[in-house]
Amino acid sequence: MRPGRLGELFGIALPVVQGPFGGGLSSVELTAAVSEGGGLGSYGAHILSPEEITDLVARLKARTRRPFGVNLWVPLEDEAALRPTDTELAAHRARLKPYYDELGVTPPTAADLAAARPDYEAQVDALLAAEPAAVSLVMGLPSRHLVAEARRLGISLIGTATTVEEAVALEQSGVDAIVASGSDAGGHRGAFLRPVRESLVGTFSLVPQVADAVSVPVIAAGGIADGRGVTAALALGADAVQIGTGFLATRESGASEVHRRTLGTPESRTTVLTRLFSGRTARGVPNLFVRDMAAYEDEVPPYPVQNALMQPIRRAAAAAGRADCVNLWAGQAAALARTETTAAEYLAKLVEESTSATATTAG
Ligand SMILES: Cc1cc2nc3c(=O)[nH]c(=O)nc-3n(C[C@H](O)[C@H](O)[C@H](O)COP(=O)(O)O)c2cc1C
Repeated sequence: MRPGRLGELFGIALPVVQGPFGGGLSSVELTAAVSEGGGLGSYGAHILSPEEITDLVARLKARTRRPFGVNLWVPLEDEAALRPTDTELAAHRARLKPYYDELGVTPPTAADLAAARPDYEAQVDALLAAEPAAVSLVMGLPSRHLVAEARRLGISLIGTATTVEEAVALEQSGVDAIVASGSDAGGHRGAFLRPVRESLVGTFSLVPQVADAVSVPVIAAGGIADGRGVTAALALGADAVQIGTGFLATRESGASEVHRRTLGTPESRTTVLTRLFSGRTARGVPNLFVRDMAAYEDEVPPYPVQNALMQPIRRAAAAAGRADCVNLWAGQAAALARTETTAAEYLAKLVEESTSATATTAG
C-alpha cells in the first residue's frame, strides 16, 4: 500500500483516511491513533461551537504531531428556509411523545430548537484560526473566503462529492482533494447539487467516474472495510480510501457500546437510508424505531429541527444501551467490521490484506 498523491499532500505513510463522525461520535483518541498509525485521522465537528472547535484542535495537537483533519457540514440553503410552523412542530413533538415518555426525557423547547442551528461561518473562522492540517467539508462547496484563507495558512481543503457533477464543482471551487462518497457509505448522505434520491451512486460506479473527471487526488469512501476493499478502490482510480464504519467499530471510537456492538454482526448486513433521526438522509442499521416510524419518513421536519427533536431520545437510548431507538449509523460493509481491534491493529490488518489482495489480482 503506497502513500500515493494523498500521502504526498499530507506527508502520511498510508493512503487511508479515517472518516470523520459527526453528532458526537468522533473521539480525540481515535483521530490521534489513526494519524499516529500513518493514516489521516479526522474529527467531525459540525455540532461544536467555535470555542469548542478551538479547544478540540488544541487537544488533538497535544495528542499527535502528525496531520489530522476536522470536518464541518456546509449548511444547505433550501433546508434553512423550510421552518415548520408552531402547529406542525406540535404534531412532530406529539408523534415522538411515546418515546420521550418511555425514556423519561423532556422534549426540547422552542428555545432549544432555535439554538440548534450552528453558526457555520463562526465555526469556519475558529477552525482556520486553529490551523489543523486539513479541513474537510461535506454537503456543499467552500466559500471563496475559506479557500483563500486555507491557502494562505497552508491548510489543505478536502471536499465530499456524491456525484461526478459535485466533484467537478468542488474541483472548480479550489479544494485540494475530493472524497468520492458512494451510496454504500454509513452516516449522512452529502448530496448538495441534486436531491439525495438522485445522487445515490454506489462506490464502485462513482470512483472511476470521479477519477476521470477531476485532476486533484480522489479519496474513495463507502463500503470499504478491509484490505480487499482498499485494493479495489485503488484499482478503480482512487488515490486513497476513507473508511468510516470500519474505524467506528474500533476500541478508540466515540460510538456508544450498543452502536459498536451492532457492527460486525450478521444483523448489520442490512442497512437503510432514513431521515427519521435527524431530518437528513443517512444510512444505518434499521431498528424498532425506524420500523415503527416508517410511515413518517417524508413527513419529519428538515435538519436541524428533527435532529434537535430526536437528540434527547438518541442520547438517552445510547446511555441506556437501548438499540431499539438509537441511530445505528453503518455502511453496507458493516458486517466486515471488527469490534475487538484497536485503530493501530486495524491499520496493520488493512495493509496486510491489501498487499495480499494486490498480489492475488496481479496473478
Ligand atoms: C457514524 C457516522 C458519522 C459520520 N459523520 C460524518 C460527518 O459528520 N461528516 C462527514 O463528512 N462524513 C461523515 N460520515 C461519513 C464517513 O466519514 C465516511 O465517509 C463513511 O463512513 C465511509 O463509508 P463506510 O461507512 O462504508 O466506511 C459519517 C459516517 C458514520 C458511520
